Amino acid sequence: MFSALDFIHIYVEKINCIMQILTIQNRILYWYAENKRDLPFRKSKDPYLIWISEVMLQQTKMKTMIPYFNRWIDLYPTLKKVAETELSDLLKLWEGLGYYSRCRNFHKATIILNRDNNGLIPKDWHTFRSLPGIGDYTASAVFSIAYNLPYVVVDVNVKRVMARVLGLKNLSNKNNSIILNNLKDWICKKHPGDFNQAMMELGALVCTPQKPSCYACPIKTNCIAFIKGSPELYPYKKKKIIKPHFITVGGLIWRKNRFYIQKRNISSMLGGLWEFPSVKVKKTESIETALKKLIEKEFGIVPKIEKKIGIIEHSYSHFSITFHGYHCKEDGIYFESKTEHEWIKLKDIDSFAFPKANHKIFNLI
Ligand code: ADE
Repeated sequence: MFSALDFIHIYVEKINCIMQILTIQNRILYWYAENKRDLPFRKSKDPYLIWISEVMLQQTKMKTMIPYFNRWIDLYPTLKKVAETELSDLLKLWEGLGYYSRCRNFHKATIILNRDNNGLIPKDWHTFRSLPGIGDYTASAVFSIAYNLPYVVVDVNVKRVMARVLGLKNLSNKNNSIILNNLKDWICKKHPGDFNQAMMELGALVCTPQKPSCYACPIKTNCIAFIKGSPELYPYKKKKIIKPHFITVGGLIWRKNRFYIQKRNISSMLGGLWEFPSVKVKKTESIETALKKLIEKEFGIVPKIEKKIGIIEHSYSHFSITFHGYHCKEDGIYFESKTEHEWIKLKDIDSFAFPKANHKIFNLI
């Protein structure tokens, strides 16, 4: 049986807990008001602008993202405009940002909303969450920032801040749910968008992976990692997996003063982008043989390999390549291609979206 004193203890404990959460909330929000960066997408609460900004920011640094965001909203100020635009034009604008499926999915989602919801972004979580490319992170960011609803945003920065504050050494599933549950308690119900952005900002500016600026942290006295003395050890970093490396070769096949490019299959990596033909070189064959075989197999002609353009290195998210580029020519017989293709002049490359590795080769010409 609980005595009256037990109830008082429980009650006082609860009040203490609430007071501590309110203190943390206030410190974070006050710090954010004083220190937040002046970012273009923070000037508006338009859910469309918040959405595209969050999509662009996934896997991309703020500094890289900003000029892309500014160009995007200049050209496509509304969701309807995006839905009515050809994917190839959007990909051209996205060129260089990488992770092109973000752009393809965003386009698909705008088409659905334009068709089914009059171009408006739904206020129902499940409807929005079910659109292509929308995960918990994007849905929570849009709903909290644009609609002021208390959905918690958890990105890598927020996870790091929370792991340190709570003294969690690793990001196991169990610890990830501890982080999520704490954030659900901590999020400011009046200003959820500001709270979420404050947490992300704190992780980006103060609670950095290396050399965190703890002296500037508004919640250092609530932070177990800081109190214990070595915050940069939280959370423990997984050893980087060494990416596989491949040798690849590609050819500019010239017909007079134009060369051949083709559109990559929409469902493949870098789908929807243009490229000149290329292939992985097998360990058992020479680079030039691999190129000749590719062209023979794809187009039924044996090309003349004219001159080496050069070699570039490029790293993708899951592998890296050494890419050898060559000028080639049809050897008397013109070929036909069944894939969507163009014959272009070198000066036309700006009209098409190419993968970065192709641009690196163009730069050598
Ligand atoms: N990273 C991703 N979205 C962000 C936002 N809205 N504020 C700060 N950092 C972010």
